[in-house]
Amino acid sequence: MKGVVAIYPGSFDPPTNGHLDLIERGANIFGKLVVAVLHNTEKGAPLFSVTERKEMLTALTRPWKNVAVDSFEGLLVDYARRIGARALLRGIRAISDYEYELQMALMNRKLEPQLETIFMLPAEKYSYLSSRLIKDVFQLGGSVRGLVPPLVEEKLHDKVNGGRPKPARKTGNRQ
Ligand code: PNS
Repeated sequence: MKGVVAIYPGSFDPPTNGHLDLIERGANIFGKLVVAVLHNTEKGAPLFSVTERKEMLTALTRPWKNVAVDSFEGLLVDYARRIGARALLRGIRAISDYEYELQMALMNRKLEPQLETIFMLPAEKYSYLSSRLIKDVFQLGGSVRGLVPPLVEEKLHDKVNGGRPKPARKTGNRQ
């Protein structure tokens, strides 16, 4: 599929190692992969602005020369038409993702039959990861090390703790 432009759309609030795993898989398959951050989400107020998310994704995807980062608003199929994309990449982590993804894929197909949705599985070690869980855990003082890139961990720290040094945490080990 080296001649195919694909879009990997999402909220990416924030990007996780699961997203990066999928970006790597997509970059290996498609000629060009556009990681597209959705502007207006119904998921409530985002933690990071679209600009911040784009900046993080641009830095994180620098190793892949065929990956670009963009944002879009409105219908995904219209954006795909505008940039000449023929494929949509989505990740499926567990069976619980399937119903939502199936609905979206079929609706997108109804709106634009030429646009093909392609599902990929992230590495198993990331199969339980979501941006929502990362935010919850981090905001409650838990460690997200190894689950998000170090850059994202830093940005989370700046955003949530205002850049203040982290308080020393008890290890939780029994004596
Ligand atoms: O990572 P997310 O938040 O689950 O991504 C959802 C996304 C961005 C793929 C979806 O909300 C979307 O495509 N929104 C754009 C509006 C649209 O086209 N809606 C109809 C899709 S069936």
